[in-house]
Amino acid sequence: MAKGDNYIVGIDIGTSKIGVIVAKLLENGEIEIVGVGKSEAKGMRRGSVSNLKEAEASIKNSCLEAESMSGYSIEKAYVSVGGTHINSINSRGVVAISAKDKIVTHQDVARVLQNSSSITISGDQKIFHTIPQEYIIDDQDGISDPIGMHGQRLEANVHIIMAPVTTLQNVGTVIHNCGIEVEDFVFNLIADSYAVLTPEEMELGVALINIGHGTTGISVFEKGAICHSHIIPIGGELFTNDLSVLLKIGVMDAEIAKKKYGCALTNMVSEDEMVEITNSSQKKSSVVSKMKIAEILEPRAVELFQLLYENIRDARLLKTINSGIVLTGGGSLLPGISEIAEKVFDHHARSGEPMGISGLTTIVGTPLFSTAVGLVQYGAKMSTKGNARSKKGTISKLFSKIFEIFE
Ligand SMILES: Nc1ncnc2c1ncn2[C@@H]1O[C@H](COP(=O)(O)OP(=O)(O)OP(=O)(O)O)[C@@H](O)[C@H]1O
Ligand SMILES: [Mg+2]
Repeated sequence: MAKGDNYIVGIDIGTSKIGVIVAKLLENGEIEIVGVGKSEAKGMRRGSVSNLKEAEASIKNSCLEAESMSGYSIEKAYVSVGGTHINSINSRGVVAISAKDKIVTHQDVARVLQNSSSITISGDQKIFHTIPQEYIIDDQDGISDPIGMHGQRLEANVHIIMAPVTTLQNVGTVIHNCGIEVEDFVFNLIADSYAVLTPEEMELGVALINIGHGTTGISVFEKGAICHSHIIPIGGELFTNDLSVLLKIGVMDAEIAKKKYGCALTNMVSEDEMVEITNSSQKKSSVVSKMKIAEILEPRAVELFQLLYENIRDARLLKTINSGIVLTGGGSLLPGISEIAEKVFDHHARSGEPMGISGLTTIVGTPLFSTAVGLVQYGAKMSTKGNARSKKGTISKLFSKIFEIFE
């Protein structure tokens, strides 16, 4: 099997599926997807491990599939972290510019980022992203790259993302037991942003929403950087459960009916279109109107977006999302869902399919794979920066991961 530094692997651990992508970083900087694995996620619950052995088996299955497709033996990977236990805050750091000539160096930037993340957090939390939003030198703000600039005082506004230590440890243990080293944990909405957002949207202001199976996450990006995140325990699973209860069919049958006939907007469905749904446990099928299915799904979709809207309103970010809303994750495949998002937010909404990749795009070019694709794009960016730095020999590995979006 192939080995080598020019391969990047992303493992997206979701509530319903494990998605693994093996990508090749080509010399021209392009990312070619060469292997994909997908398996049902067992032993995981909304981003946390609920059964170590089951989770390990699911991840191994997915990795084996990606390995046999790519001919590459996975040794290390970027791993997604999501779930309602993720917390995020904005913070600010300040340091004196240390060199005699008062020119900002990589070390000053590393120090100011470390200073900005020296905040009091609960002992069970661990910071796993410190993302610069802007730098300020003396009184000049809005600086994206301060290195080489003159000044006395360097400040940084950052967005900090943290997760419970035990969550990261348990996911780390499962990955380790699969014989894989965790290259980095990446918040899933940050990974998504690499795959589905344009630089213009990130600059102008955009809300990125990932509707998964167990959770929905929203992050707001402005001036090129993330500034807000929130995750709620509502995802495609609850849409399926609603159908299961109200149509009196099993969850598996409801999941099939949702994907085949579901629509989140009753206005998009004609009154008289009838479809056949299966009731496996009673070994029979029945005929229902598509309207009835839409009438069940619509209130759940409205509730979901209302909760997200209230969060963005309370964070005073409604005026920030000038480019509107981008929807990704498997739940965004439900027809009519972007129309509901537009109605609730009164902003344009579009579907977020992964962009900027070559290779197996027909398999991964869907919102279901946005996090996994984003993980390898994130990894590609980190490894390019890492290489540039190690050639210069100027900065320790410790700080390489905190130089995110702005460079
Ligand atoms: N065509 C479709 N129409 C409607 N829903 C769909 C469709 N395809 C997938 N889904 C839903 O998408 C959800 C899975 O999405 P995804 O794979 O992004 O979630 P996940 O990453 O496993 O979960 P989470 O991010 O919450 O941990 C499921 O609820 C599934 O029913
Ligand atoms: Mg997910």
